[in-house]
Amino acid sequence: MNTVPSGELVTEQIEDVLRIEISNPERMNALDLGMFSELAEILRAAGDNPEIGAILLQGRGESFCSGNDVNDFLDRGDDREAYRPVGEFMRALYECPTPVVAAVNGPAVGIGATMLLHCDLVYAAEESFLHMPFVTLGLCPEFASTLLLPRRIGLPRASLALLLGEPIGAERALQWGLVNTVCPLDSLLQEAASAAARLAALPREAVRTTKRLLRSQVAAKVDTAIREESEAFMGLLGTAAFRDAALAFLERSPDDPTVE
Ligand code: COA
Repeated sequence: MNTVPSGELVTEQIEDVLRIEISNPERMNALDLGMFSELAEILRAAGDNPEIGAILLQGRGESFCSGNDVNDFLDRGDDREAYRPVGEFMRALYECPTPVVAAVNGPAVGIGATMLLHCDLVYAAEESFLHMPFVTLGLCPEFASTLLLPRRIGLPRASLALLLGEPIGAERALQWGLVNTVCPLDSLLQEAASAAARLAALPREAVRTTKRLLRSQVAAKVDTAIREESEAFMGLLGTAAFRDAALAFLERSPDDPTVE
């Protein structure tokens, strides 16, 4: 066992499973630009490492991931170059040849929910939920969620989640086919880790080939969707509607949440 704390990401290799923990609990595991870069590097290296048969992704504390650090958005505005690490992370995730299992211990918001669409197996705690409040924030969905979400759950449900920004509770996510299993929080990690270990024990080339084939039919469409969404997203980051919503989120009082 090898534990390497890496900024706000902790990686640990347990036999042939790489565990990655998002650890920024003061901000409910928001991902800042430095963390996106590191995550991209970790995923690329894991995908190239023949000794790693599966990746387990989890969040520390009460949340899985609360999305992009809103402070970064406010600091960087619509400076496209600044957000390169975000794209690098998502590309590393959706191109990762090694299967990725997510253990969703709490809220998965924004890109924290989007990334689940690119994971191979998703285990969710009973209290967890997926939330994509992009429109509420004056933004639009990203990283092929406008393609993948309606394919998975149908257009009416995807519109509820992406247009109205309604959170999707774990049980509903299970019914809709967005997660594989819902379990109590105290058994979540064990269940997800056991799935990762089972994947890692299977013939590696067969697993990688099957993962590639499962995705190859939509791969080109995913690239096109990401390009279109990124263009639109960057445009919206420069608007007053987004700035006002982001400031309102950061400045709200705990009893008066602006973003739900
Ligand atoms: N970026 C920066 N800070 C964040 C954050 C984010 N994405 N998500 C949460 N935080 C901060 C909050 O501002 C708060 O900071 P404070 O203690 O200084 O006030 C702290 O983390 C705790 O968050 P809070 O909202 O008070 O916790 P909660 O338990 O009521 O709700 C969430 C947790 C995850 C449901 C809620 O924080 C949330 O929805 N965050 C997502 C923000 C967002 O819209 N992300 C998408 C960006 S595209």
